[in-house]
Amino acid sequence: MSKVLITGGAGFIGSNLAERLIGEGHQITIVDDLSMGLKENIPDSKQVTFYEHSIIDHGFMEKLLVDNDFEYIFLLAAVASVADSIERPLYTHEVNQEANIYILEAIRTNGLKPKKVLFSSSAAVYGNEQELPKREISKVSPITPYAIDEFATERYLVTYANLYKLNFVTVRFFNVYGPRQNPKSPYSGVISILTEALQKGTEFKIFGDGEQSRDFVYISDVLDALELLTFGSNVKGDVFNIATGHETSLNQIVRTYQKIAQTDINVSMQDARTGDIKVSVASVDKLKELGYMPKISVSEGLTRYWQYI
Ligand code: UD1
Repeated sequence: MSKVLITGGAGFIGSNLAERLIGEGHQITIVDDLSMGLKENIPDSKQVTFYEHSIIDHGFMEKLLVDNDFEYIFLLAAVASVADSIERPLYTHEVNQEANIYILEAIRTNGLKPKKVLFSSSAAVYGNEQELPKREISKVSPITPYAIDEFATERYLVTYANLYKLNFVTVRFFNVYGPRQNPKSPYSGVISILTEALQKGTEFKIFGDGEQSRDFVYISDVLDALELLTFGSNVKGDVFNIATGHETSLNQIVRTYQKIAQTDINVSMQDARTGDIKVSVASVDKLKELGYMPKISVSEGLTRYWQYI
């Protein structure tokens, strides 16, 4: 079984990944400063070592990497909120870009040879470009500090892979949803906000006419893709969308969820958010060529999410 490092392992995606990898017998080290993640998200297991620490402590990260010689590294720690990045561009840069480059440098300069390093970027790199579906070779247009740093860090991984022959790979998450997604901010994933509104019977605001659509991908499909790209293939120096290839409108989500929960949602219609995009859908052909097949429909995903909470 492998030694695995997950930065951001107390967060939504990181903690779900940790849980799955523990079930498969791996030894997991988590570094998370709990700025977004929660301690209770971390699986209670002897296979987990947790450091409550920020990745911007470069000396700490280098020592951790050298001492442990991890076989697989998932770089998921980030200022994950676009709104936060607009408030704090420099701090976002320090976390989302600089800290990750220090990690890549620690790997390179110490001659470490992890079997795979995966960095998680975002569909945000495509910005408001109209081309649909969004393919990995589509034009990018990062328009927020968050998107700029995600895109730049992607390029560092690709470039390191090519220049130094390191097994680095990058993914772009689309709209991931599922258990443990934090609904606390108005900029949290819409399905987590909707779930909380359903649970508590509180008002759910639809920004715009609700006909905007997204490529909503359930967490278990995301984990399948992450495992495929790390344990299950020898791709490197490349970028992959993680999504389903299907779009669903917000109105459809609300209708489907009401049926599943057998409760009416208290919906209020609001003005659309400035800069909100109308349609976002990915092409996942590149990932499918490696054998990926998203399994969870929106209706199935919402059912699982509802059963979990
Ligand atoms: C996602 C990212 C965002 C990134 C963007 C670029 C998340 C949580 N957000 O935004 O950081 O910049 O992709 O691709 O992953 N909505 C409501 N009511 C709510 C909340 C949201 O109607 O309470 C609407 C939004 O206006 C939007 C849709 O739901 O039209 C989806 O919102 P959200 O989950 O924030 O995702 P993105 O807008 O795709």
